Amino acid sequence: MKRPIARIAATARYTPARIVTNADFERTLDTSDQWIRERSGIRERRYAEDHETIAFMACDAAGRALTDAGLTPADLDAIVVGTASWDRLLPSQACDIQAALGATNAAAFDVGAACSGFLYASTVAEGIMATGVARTVLVVGAERLTRIMDATDRSTAILFGDGVGVTLLRPSSDGRGILSAYVKSDGSLGHLLYRSGGGSLQPPSEAMLGDSSYYIKMAGREVFKAAVLSMADACDHALQQAGLTGEQVDVLIPHQANIRIIEATAKHAHIPMDKVYVNVDRYGNTSAASVPIALDEAVRAGRIQPGMTVLLVAFGAGFTWASMAIRW
Ligand code: ACO
Repeated sequence: MKRPIARIAATARYTPARIVTNADFERTLDTSDQWIRERSGIRERRYAEDHETIAFMACDAAGRALTDAGLTPADLDAIVVGTASWDRLLPSQACDIQAALGATNAAAFDVGAACSGFLYASTVAEGIMATGVARTVLVVGAERLTRIMDATDRSTAILFGDGVGVTLLRPSSDGRGILSAYVKSDGSLGHLLYRSGGGSLQPPSEAMLGDSSYYIKMAGREVFKAAVLSMADACDHALQQAGLTGEQVDVLIPHQANIRIIEATAKHAHIPMDKVYVNVDRYGNTSAASVPIALDEAVRAGRIQPGMTVLLVAFGAGFTWASMAIRW
């Protein structure tokens, strides 16, 4: 099938107002602002309040994206959500967003790919547009990781934040849109980043309350190494498929997990840091939400203009990794 099939007609984001700084962690954990900044690049992150559920945040962002595109919720044919921190386990997060939004004509479903969730969801959305199943798709990257992390574990608590980013995909008519998409996984490395408690394998129990199996566990150093290699692989594939080189990329939007991973990715792809959008310092790792939040910020800041070449790349638990080249 000939690309581009889909273009991004609108973007929006929701980031909670509550800011938690590195200094706040200095009061509760054996850590320091200097360690966190030097090892991760993070200065602060956002925490959702009780009322800021994923459905609430996504609905707010989606409403603004629809307005910007001159559409209404009834125009949506599908809602595809990437998340690893669903408001509840059943039904899907997408169905709860559909109900909150009143998108009565949309098929709604989730895609599970952790931090790569938004790019996986975008790839699936493009696919259902290519087959004619849908013409207008809301893609959501959404996370409330602060509810599923162990606030007493300094190796993970300092990293994560909450938020939502959305895009609206519409048919491409003028050569602008998604030029290439790449998705890849290696499930044999799942033991390096996981959350085991609460599923059907380990249903909730009294013992679980004390053993923290409900929370995200991560072997940071191993994940770091894999992230660097996988993000490089993802850049190569999306560029190659689109017939592009790194030098032709105007803006790189990488998953915002760690500034050192971002710098290594940019260097590998021959993209100078002044073409890389970075907000990990302000939001930390918002997992599936990180790429669409950064994309929306870059668009609204005027960093992305019509006709520009944009490269999106992500890596996450699974392991999963993914990329997408776009003519804006
Ligand atoms: N404050 C102070 N010291 C700390 C902290 C902290 N918050 N956390 C760990 N340390 C200590 C460790 O205990 C270790 O001490 P030791 O040498 O005495 O054993 C030392 O610092 C070094 O620890 P490392 O884990 O090797 O530190 P590293 O430089 O790798 O940085 C980090 C840790 C920031 C987590 C990094 O590994 C990282 O970013 N990993 C990738 C995370 C990622 O990309 N995740 C993506 C997917 S997330 C998802 O899918 C939900």
